[in-house]
Amino acid sequence: MNILLLLFTCILAAALFFNLLWASISSSITPNWPSNQPHRVVIANYSINVENIKKVEIKEKKANGESISPTFADLPAPELQWEKMTSAPVPRLDGFAIQIENLFYVFAGYGTIDVVHSHVDVYNFTDDSWVDRFDMPKEMANSHLGMATDGRYIYVISGQRGPQCRGPTAQNFVLDTKTKKWTSMPPLPAPRYAPATQLWKGRLHVMGGSKENRHTPGVDHWSLAVKNGKALEKQWLLETPIPRGGPHRACVALDDGVIVIGGQEGDFMAKPGSPIFKCSRRHEVVYPDVYKLDAEMKWEVLPPMPKPDSHIESSWVVVNNSIILIGGTTEKHPVTKRMILVGEVFQFHLDSKKWSVIGKLPFRCKTTLAAFWDGWLYFTSGQRDRGPDNPQPRKVIGEMWRTKLSLSQ
Ligand SMILES: *[C@@H]1O[C@H](CO)[C@@H](O)[C@H](O)[C@H]1NC(C)=O
Ligand SMILES: *[C@@H]1O[C@H](CO)[C@@H](O)[C@H](O)[C@H]1NC(C)=O
Ligand SMILES: *[C@@H]1O[C@H](CO)[C@@H](O)[C@H](O)[C@H]1NC(C)=O
Repeated sequence: MNILLLLFTCILAAALFFNLLWASISSSITPNWPSNQPHRVVIANYSINVENIKKVEIKEKKANGESISPTFADLPAPELQWEKMTSAPVPRLDGFAIQIENLFYVFAGYGTIDVVHSHVDVYNFTDDSWVDRFDMPKEMANSHLGMATDGRYIYVISGQRGPQCRGPTAQNFVLDTKTKKWTSMPPLPAPRYAPATQLWKGRLHVMGGSKENRHTPGVDHWSLAVKNGKALEKQWLLETPIPRGGPHRACVALDDGVIVIGGQEGDFMAKPGSPIFKCSRRHEVVYPDVYKLDAEMKWEVLPPMPKPDSHIESSWVVVNNSIILIGGTTEKHPVTKRMILVGEVFQFHLDSKKWSVIGKLPFRCKTTLAAFWDGWLYFTSGQRDRGPDNPQPRKVIGEMWRTKLSLSQ
């Protein structure tokens, strides 16, 4: 008991120390969300502290003048054999994709920071070809959307309209993939940027994301009953808030609940007064947190990812009772402050609730769009690294890759 108390005190002290260091290092960037958020309490309580302690160690090293490799965040991982398939018609970043059997619907995204897509490309896994292209409604967001499907209808929730760092919309749409017709749905109570979104037991759940300024994390959780592409209710119901807010998370529906993985607090914002809403970097915290929403709308804390990971909203598949999750971004480099991409293939075993690293992508990449078909793990799109020794983001890609997946239980 005493040991436990001591351990807890140490963890708390480390967390405090980290916060102080953090405040001194990043004093030029002021986070504008309240510091007394409930998640602070939650953080002090569980394994994310391990990450904080690691970061304190890194910062101590820095104080001692040691240099830190740019690739310090890479975890040891087995090699996988990747095969290059037919590239998408356009490169895209921060798009979204939904797989329905052998077809992969790839939506929206930035082509460059100044050009956004307003269409859907469709890939056929059976014959490795891009078989269709059709427009999205003009009012629909072009990036940072939330999406879910029932196997025919695709629900499209909020997101950012336009290029650079414009704010999010509250508007929602539905695509009938059989007829390729779009309809609209009741808007969210407030706009959201990259909210965690899933369809679970007949209700759409929308959680977290960022608020109107793209940066302030939202913790709100709303749900709406839907059936066959139609809303069964006039407005969204307020549900139990998610323990920690923020955008860019994976959100997976299972039989017994919805799991929300990784993400971040804070994001780029429009430069005040900029007529083109020019993106400017703000303080961000990437986290490894995993939460599960159960049937009573209670949130359970699950074991965190092997490292903080964000920009993974469309980067996962469920195979043989495991979630496979690929790529993303992790915490920025502690010295250079550069953004660092993730190249690992993670497996979360749903039975044992354990994480493992089962492979590497052909390169590090964020906002990958992942799929699984006929034994193969696929991904397309996103922004890749500068090379094996430089994990900073560079080129926005449309490449399609696949590897044969063989999971051990
Ligand atoms: C915090 O830790 C206590 C003691 O281990 C536990 O009872 C409680 O459920 C934890 N709370 C959260 C939010 O994890
Ligand atoms: C996908 O490819 C298979 C095999 O060539 C073909 O039978 C099927 O019609 C294609 N689907 C679409 C929608 O093009
Ligand atoms: C999933 O399990 C089945 C049955 O055990 C097995 O045949 C298959 O290879 C597994 N899939 C993967 C990707 O490991």
